[in-house]
Amino acid sequence: MSELRFDGRVAIVTGAGGGLGRQHALTLAARGCKVVVNDLGGSAHGDGKSSSAADKVVEEIRAAGGEAVANYDSVENGAAIVQTALDNFGTVDIVINNAGILRDVSFAKMTKAEWDIIQRVHLDGSMSVSHAAWPIMREKGYGRIVMTTSAAGIYGNFGQANYCAAKLGILGLANCLAEEGRSKNIFVNTIAPLAASRLTETIMPPELLKLLQPEAVSPLVAWLCHEECQETKGLFEVGAGFIAKLRWERTEGYSFPNGRAFNLDDVAKRWEKITDFSASTHPTTTTESFAPILDGVNNPKLGGNEFIDLDEAAKAELVLESKYDERDLSLYALGIGAARNPLDKDELKYVYEPRCPPTAPCRSSTPCWPPPRPAPSRCPA
Ligand code: NAI
Repeated sequence: MSELRFDGRVAIVTGAGGGLGRQHALTLAARGCKVVVNDLGGSAHGDGKSSSAADKVVEEIRAAGGEAVANYDSVENGAAIVQTALDNFGTVDIVINNAGILRDVSFAKMTKAEWDIIQRVHLDGSMSVSHAAWPIMREKGYGRIVMTTSAAGIYGNFGQANYCAAKLGILGLANCLAEEGRSKNIFVNTIAPLAASRLTETIMPPELLKLLQPEAVSPLVAWLCHEECQETKGLFEVGAGFIAKLRWERTEGYSFPNGRAFNLDDVAKRWEKITDFSASTHPTTTTESFAPILDGVNNPKLGGNEFIDLDEAAKAELVLESKYDERDLSLYALGIGAARNPLDKDELKYVYEPRCPPTAPCRSSTPCWPPPRPAPSRCPA
C-alpha cells in the first residue's frame, strides 16, 4: 500500500510551537502538506507572547525538506491566521484547532477572568479559526477540521470548571460543524488526547510522561485530515498507541403515557428503569434523540391508572377456547330447528347422531342471535 500523502494541501495547525501541535505540524509536513505553524508563544497559563516557538518548528520543517510559515497571532484572531495561509499558499484545506492553556482552580475560588480567558483561547479560538476558513472550504467543496477536547471536558475534573466547560463546548461546536459541513465535503472530528507536554509535566510522573509521547497522537490526527478518511462527527480518545471512538448511550428509559399526569413520586418509582443501561440505544442525531419523545406525542396513549395500563392491556391477544360434545351438538341442532320437520331425515340426523351441524363451530363461540325458531312440540319416534 502506498503511503497516504498531503501533496498540494494546506494546513493550519494552531498552538504548533510545542507539544502536540508541533508534532501534528511535523507529521503533516513530512507527508507533503504545506503548514501554517501558528503559536502565540506565551506561557502555559497564557501570559506573554513570543515568535520563537513557531519559528523553531518552521525551521525544523524546512530543515527536513518541508514547506511551512509561521504565524504568531492569538487563535482569537482566526482571520489573521487564515490570511497567512492565503498569502503564502493561496488556500486552506485543513484546520487543526489545538492551541490551549490552563488556569486550573477550584470553582469556589475561580474568578470571572480565569473563566473568560479559558473560554477565549479554547472555545472562541477554535470557532474563530474555523469560521475564517469555513467560506474557503465551502467554496472549494473540501475541508478537514480536527478539534481538540479533553477527557476533563467529557468526564469532568476537579479544579477545571473553566477548562471542562470550554472543552465540551468545542465538542458541541464540532458536532454542529460536522452537520453543516457534510454536504460540502467538510468533515469535522474531535480528539481527546493524552500526551506529555508542558500542560501535563507538572501533574504526571516523568516515567509515565516518557511513555506518553505526542508522536502517538499525531497519526490519528493526520488520518482524520486526509481526503481518504470519510469519518465526520467522530470523537476519539487517543494516547500511547491507544485509539478508540466514543459515542452517546441512552437507556431504554420509561415513557409515562402522554396526557396522563405524573409527579415526582412516579419518577422515583421508575428510577431503576430510567437509569438501567442493560437495554440501550446510541442516538447520533437530534432526530434520533427526539424519536422516543415524539413517539409519545404522535401516538397518544390510551391512559389507565396506576394499576392498569390500558396500552399494555390493548397489546394482549384475545384467545377464546370452547369445547362441545354430542349432547351440545344435539341441543344445537334442536336450537336451529333440525327437528322442526320430523320427516326430514337429513336434518333430523343432526339431533340423534353425533354429527356437527355445519354452522356449529362458529356459532358456538358467539351469542346465538336471532334466537332459533321453536322446535315442534312432538319429538319424532
Ligand atoms: P502545550 O502547552 O505544549 O501546547 C499548546 C500550545 O498552544 C503552546 O505552544 C502555546 O503557546 C499555544 N497557545 C496557547 N495559547 C494560544 C493562543 N491564544 N493562540 C495561539 N497559540 C496559543 O500543550 P499540549 O499538551 O500540547 O496541548 C495541546 C492541546 O491539547 C490543548 O488544547 C490541550 O488543552 C489539549 N489537551 C492536551 C492533553 C495532554 O495530555 N497534553 C490532554 C487533553 C487535552
